Amino acid sequence: MKFFLDSASIDEIRSVNELGILAGVTTNPSLVSKEGVSFHDRLKEITSEVSGSVSAEVISEDAEGMIKEGKELAAIAPNVTVKVPMTLEGLKAVKAFSDLNIKTNVTLVFNANQALLAARAGASYVSPFLGRLDDIGHDGMDLIATISSIFDRHGISTEIIAASIRHPLHVTDAAANGAHIATIPYKVVAQLVKHPLTDQGIEKFLADWNKQQ
Ligand code: E4P
Repeated sequence: MKFFLDSASIDEIRSVNELGILAGVTTNPSLVSKEGVSFHDRLKEITSEVSGSVSAEVISEDAEGMIKEGKELAAIAPNVTVKVPMTLEGLKAVKAFSDLNIKTNVTLVFNANQALLAARAGASYVSPFLGRLDDIGHDGMDLIATISSIFDRHGISTEIIAASIRHPLHVTDAAANGAHIATIPYKVVAQLVKHPLTDQGIEKFLADWNKQQ
């Protein structure tokens, strides 16, 4: 499983990129609006920092508007992936983007049929939202496992992005259940690194080393 960062913050993106683990970035309108900057300018900055896929979401609700917006976003850099909501209009737009060789990430996926439809329309990625399903008492991880088994069984190459990740266990379980990618908020990336025994071990090694000096 690869790691994407779920963020529109250039500082967070740079800091994770330095770790050598960053395969891509996902943004959404909420993340971009928190930054208070021009979306296109920030997308230019992110795409020049990161060589992997950078998802940028359209806000139109009709296919025509999505296609227009998506073409503008895709023109910003070759690694832009157009993020499209899982609706009938969204599927039409995904088909059009696929014909134009523009990569797409179908977002707001909450069941396996939505994922299968998106894949068949030509989506490069589908994003099932784990945390938001967990929030309403459903098991988001079951959805990852089901989509993964359907895609494997039918030879579908669309990649599954585990999204709406809230804690480190989501990351482990997404990898174990077949997600190709987890898109992770900065806070959770920092949590993944930490283990109290690692910190204690470093402290003890240093203390022992200093006794000899
Ligand atoms: C990523 O593609 C999604 O937009 C994001 O993971 C949603 O996360 P949230 O449910 O925490 O807003």
